[in-house]
Amino acid sequence: VLDAWYIAAHSHQLKRKPLPVTIHGTPLVLFRDDEGSAGCLLDRCPHRNVPLSIGKVVEGQLRCGYHGWRFDRGGRCTHVPALVGVSDKRSRCAAAYPVIEQQGFIWVYMRPGAEPEQGPYTFPITEGEPGYLVVRRTVQTAGSLHMVAENALDVPHTAFLHGGLFRTEEARGEIETEVRRWHDRVECEYIGEARPSGIVGRLLSPSGGVVVHHDRFFLPSVVQVEYSIGTENHVLVTAFGTPVDAYETQLHAVVAIRTRFPGWLIRPFIQPLALWIFHQDRTVLRLQTEAALKYGSAHMASTDVDLLGPHIMKLMRRAERGDLGPVRTEPRIKRGRMLV
Ligand code: FES
Ligand SMILES: [Fe+2]
Repeated sequence: VLDAWYIAAHSHQLKRKPLPVTIHGTPLVLFRDDEGSAGCLLDRCPHRNVPLSIGKVVEGQLRCGYHGWRFDRGGRCTHVPALVGVSDKRSRCAAAYPVIEQQGFIWVYMRPGAEPEQGPYTFPITEGEPGYLVVRRTVQTAGSLHMVAENALDVPHTAFLHGGLFRTEEARGEIETEVRRWHDRVECEYIGEARPSGIVGRLLSPSGGVVVHHDRFFLPSVVQVEYSIGTENHVLVTAFGTPVDAYETQLHAVVAIRTRFPGWLIRPFIQPLALWIFHQDRTVLRLQTEAALKYGSAHMASTDVDLLGPHIMKLMRRAERGDLGPVRTEPRIKRGRMLV
């Protein structure tokens, strides 16, 4: 979906040097003007196609590394060094994308020259929220946006691929599931699950307790996993997926954790665990992507416990067509059961 905001980089990544990024297969370049405002242009000089990212920022404008043409944040060609006469002509403009910097991320709207009606997604909990440890991590993996979103929100694989970390291979009980779908998002609530018996569950809530667990997907590409265990433990993982291209996805995760333990105590455990889990997921996502390429298409036999993947696909298809259907204030609900 091109009519949407995507995270292109963390604010701190963009300093003096132009920063090349790729979103939806489109090469882009980010830079800051004299005031520090971020701009985003197609990473292709309109003169001879050289990537503008090999250039430099001069007087707040991006200067091409080949003949020195300069462009402002709006893509206007402000200077052609050897030229006697006017530099600024329409044909010499670089395509400029809307940019917003928000919550420490640089967001780019993927339609050049557009005037978006809405701002980017807002993360619900960020640094400074009382009682929470907040950690940000950006990771990149093989896999389409759909594959990566499904993986992040899929419960049954956790007992196998991540065996012992969250859940164990032997299912312990039947729980209820409720999938709620709106025109632009879908969520699943898992009702009646005991505290996961794996390391992660024990770490977060040694005393057990009832688990309230929601997995969510919002268009264009937000995945969210929320656990509340007992009254004092709350884990909210919100990740924004930026498609690098059809086979590669970046996930910008903001992890917010509240437990009865202080943040400094759990931080050293969370990081390596999260990276280990991600390493396992990345391995299957790469294999899945390679298989889809090898066989020419993806074969997808789903069952009732592939709870969110098919809905996410439906939402993405509709968004691509630019038609989400009627606005739903009340979700469509589907109840089911599963063994965990
Ligand atoms: S290619 Fe950029 S100025 Fe010539
Ligand atoms: Fe996983």
